[in-house]
Amino acid sequence: MAVDLSHLSHVDTEPGELPASMAAWVIREERYGEPIDAFQLEQIEVPEPGAFEVIVRVMAAGVNYNNVWAALGEPVSVMRYGDHPEYGHHIGGSDASGVVWKVGPGVTRWQPGDEVVVHCNQASYEDPEVHGLDPLAAPSQKIWGYETTWGSFAQFTKVQAQQLLPKPQALTWEEAASYGLVYFTAHRMLINRCNIQAGDRVLIWGAAGGLGVFATQLCRAAGAHAVGVVSNEEKGELVKRLGATAYIDRNEFAGMMRRGGETPDEEKERFKVTRAFDKRVRELLGDKPDIVFEHVGQATFPTSVFTVKPFGKVVICAGTTGYNLDFDVRYLWMKQKQIIGSHFANAYECLKANELIESGAIRPVLWRTLGFEGVGEAHQLMRDNQHLGKISILVGAAQEGLGRAVEGPGAIRAEVGA
Ligand SMILES: NC(=O)c1ccc[n+]([C@@H]2O[C@H](COP(=O)([O-])OP(=O)(O)OC[C@H]3O[C@@H](n4cnc5c(N)ncnc54)[C@H](OP(=O)(O)O)[C@@H]3O)[C@@H](O)[C@H]2O)c1
Repeated sequence: MAVDLSHLSHVDTEPGELPASMAAWVIREERYGEPIDAFQLEQIEVPEPGAFEVIVRVMAAGVNYNNVWAALGEPVSVMRYGDHPEYGHHIGGSDASGVVWKVGPGVTRWQPGDEVVVHCNQASYEDPEVHGLDPLAAPSQKIWGYETTWGSFAQFTKVQAQQLLPKPQALTWEEAASYGLVYFTAHRMLINRCNIQAGDRVLIWGAAGGLGVFATQLCRAAGAHAVGVVSNEEKGELVKRLGATAYIDRNEFAGMMRRGGETPDEEKERFKVTRAFDKRVRELLGDKPDIVFEHVGQATFPTSVFTVKPFGKVVICAGTTGYNLDFDVRYLWMKQKQIIGSHFANAYECLKANELIESGAIRPVLWRTLGFEGVGEAHQLMRDNQHLGKISILVGAAQEGLGRAVEGPGAIRAEVGA
């Protein structure tokens, strides 16, 4: 049945009361594949909030790489995790701005009508790790809108109350929906996991991508010097605008990428290019980097371990090109380097990071805003590496530019290449 999107910006019920059904972009196991086909519009029942849960009316949703993986059904099927077996569908979307519509039993901090953004970490309050260690260490920890259904590519989303943060008032709905997942991840990687210091030197892979645009800004805010790796000049110019000292076009060093299965001679050749890249990094930063910001994985990891300074840190949160990493471990142990894993952020880190957005010290970097019909297309652009910075989707917001309550700088527009 075709889903009518003509009334998307209108809800028949007042805050406090839920309509029976909603339009949602749904992924199902039988149509895993390219995002453009895997996402389909369906009319779905609106869930009721359980204890300490909140139903948020989504005004805008942010697009992330995790739902490219969800659409592909790779490297794992999300349907095996979280509440998916209970509902049998995946409504993706791990970033949202919106309005609290209904609160469940026990919720006291938020009322219907509050304007919020949502961070994407969920964990059961019954897990002891949540109360003394870190929610990211809890056995129940999950990423909302990826490992759970009821994400933000729908008119309403179901979240835990602890996921809510006040919406930065100077941002529009689409700006406010664009940054959470990648920015909060980059914040934990650099601030908490690496304890970045003023004067540090940092090498950032994919510096014009979702994580990278925030890693670059965080380096500037911390007084650190960043060199960003990108794949063209336009992305390089964006990265410089965001505060990087310089950029490197990775196409000049294509031979350093690890493919796996190289012969010893090919490996020798690859290492030559890695050395040339390392030299360029030292020239641009004045020394080897104290920190390498990693998420590319297999292709770049041997270079990251080689290039980071003795006693330096390679911090990694993904393996986009492959997650079986191999590298010459002598460069790790003899130079006493560290590899640090990192995954999203806890609620307190998100709150502190969000305050930097509120103050304008860190700004969203928005490339495109699409209508609700553009969810599949947006994920396909990301899969094909055709984007810069972030893409937002309008859901309840009738048009771009709405939702700003006070004047402020707003988002940086990544218009080059658009
Ligand atoms: N664990 C977590 O909490 C967490 C959180 C956020 C994201 N992630 C993961 O992190 C990865 C990146 O996310 P993102 O939002 O930053 O994605 P993104 O917006 O696509 O940016 C990634 C960047 O990596 C670069 N890149 C792609 N292929 C490359 C290659 N072969 N060699 C070198 N650079 C390459 C691209 O930049 P150039 O083409 O300009 O080099 C691209 O802009 C994804 O796998 C995502 O799922 C994990």
